[in-house]
Amino acid sequence: MLRAARPSELGQIAALLADRGEPADAVDHRLVVEDNDAGWDSCAVVVDGDRVVSTATLLDETVFLGDAAIPAGQVELVATDREYEGRGLVRALMGWAHDRSASRGHLIQVMIGIPYFYRQFGYQYAIAIPADRDVRAIPPSDGSYLVRAAGADDIAAMAALQDAVQRAYDLRMPHSPACWRWLVARDGSSQLIVERAGEPVATGRITPPEDDEVVLGEIAAADPAAAAALVGYASKEAGAATLKVMERGGYPAGDALERYLAPRPGHTARYYVRIPDVSVLLEHLRPVLSARLARSEFAEQNGEIIVSFFRHHVRMAFTNGKVGEVRPGGAMQAPASVGGAGVAPDLAGSLLFGPEGIAGLAEVHPDVYCGPNEILMGALFPSVRADMLTFYLP
Ligand SMILES: CC(C)(COP(=O)(O)OP(=O)(O)OC[C@H]1O[C@@H](n2cnc3c(N)ncnc32)[C@H](O)[C@@H]1OP(=O)(O)O)[C@@H](O)C(=O)NCCC(=O)NCCS
Repeated sequence: MLRAARPSELGQIAALLADRGEPADAVDHRLVVEDNDAGWDSCAVVVDGDRVVSTATLLDETVFLGDAAIPAGQVELVATDREYEGRGLVRALMGWAHDRSASRGHLIQVMIGIPYFYRQFGYQYAIAIPADRDVRAIPPSDGSYLVRAAGADDIAAMAALQDAVQRAYDLRMPHSPACWRWLVARDGSSQLIVERAGEPVATGRITPPEDDEVVLGEIAAADPAAAAALVGYASKEAGAATLKVMERGGYPAGDALERYLAPRPGHTARYYVRIPDVSVLLEHLRPVLSARLARSEFAEQNGEIIVSFFRHHVRMAFTNGKVGEVRPGGAMQAPASVGGAGVAPDLAGSLLFGPEGIAGLAEVHPDVYCGPNEILMGALFPSVRADMLTFYLP
């Protein structure tokens, strides 16, 4: 039976998560279900009698694209008892999570997960995850910085530092207020804060040494020297373990670290994205499309945008830089013949949130093309630079 988890099941769920994942997962689960913002309703279980045999949790998130706030869900803490694997329990729990996500008004789901598995539930690899890179040399720091573990009293300062860095990105997911509370209390990573003359000037997050490796991520620093102090502290914490830094270029202090990092590994990682209804999402993103149009050579023109997802399509009229409402329609096999673009539906996440833009996708996917209005489509669906802060360091 699949149902909401109950407080009396805390121990069983903790044991299942620790057995199938890490002991730290059990701590994370407790933090979530005992938090008023998330609570027990955010976790579901499958029980056989009174034995918990599978579980999943849905978190509330907000993803920002340009000025648009997109309500989003994130599935985490997924596990099935070994004896019950392969019976569709997680498939059923994902159904529960997606129903709950829809009822909470989420227009997308984002997550980090094991390779391939979640594609089976409608997820696509779309949003770029920055690489973890070996630290080649420790940047010099002048000793005027104090680096220390951060606690609940530092949340406002850490959030402000993160917000300042995230402004540089097209797509942003900040930590939710609840997530900040979990981050300062969890075992799986520790929050750090850097002060100069008593003022917070940088923050970051470090993992405990595991597999002889320590990762320093989410570096948000007011200046390069503050970032250097953080890396210096992390290297001492790492001791004999290899220190990796999760790259975060695109703002001055992040760019300054570049020369201290080893080359980017060849393998790229992505966040999973699921878009339940791309027409509804596009309607929500109309202000973003309008802003892009207004910055383009089409700002003073009128016309129609047609994008076919092959099984269905959307039309949007535009007038003087403003995109009109989304008008959905049925199957459309040859959008180019009516001036439209074609996008395979399982690449809609990459189209809207990925680094390739429609032009980059069209280079490698035969079922993505701009059609005759290539410049218009390129302006509407450009490459997106993303910075996502999630519960887990990916
Ligand atoms: C991965 C895991 C959650 C799957 O749970 P499960 O209850 O066995 O999954 P389901 O039976 O619902 O699987 C759904 C589908 O995926 C398939 N599947 C199961 N495990 C899979 C895997 N590791 N990779 C790809 N497909 C898998 C199933 O055969 C099933 O296919 P079907 O619906 O076409 O028959 C479970 O094996 C587990 O707890 N693993 C350890 C912890 C873990 O990795 N958690 C995920 C962290 S993101």
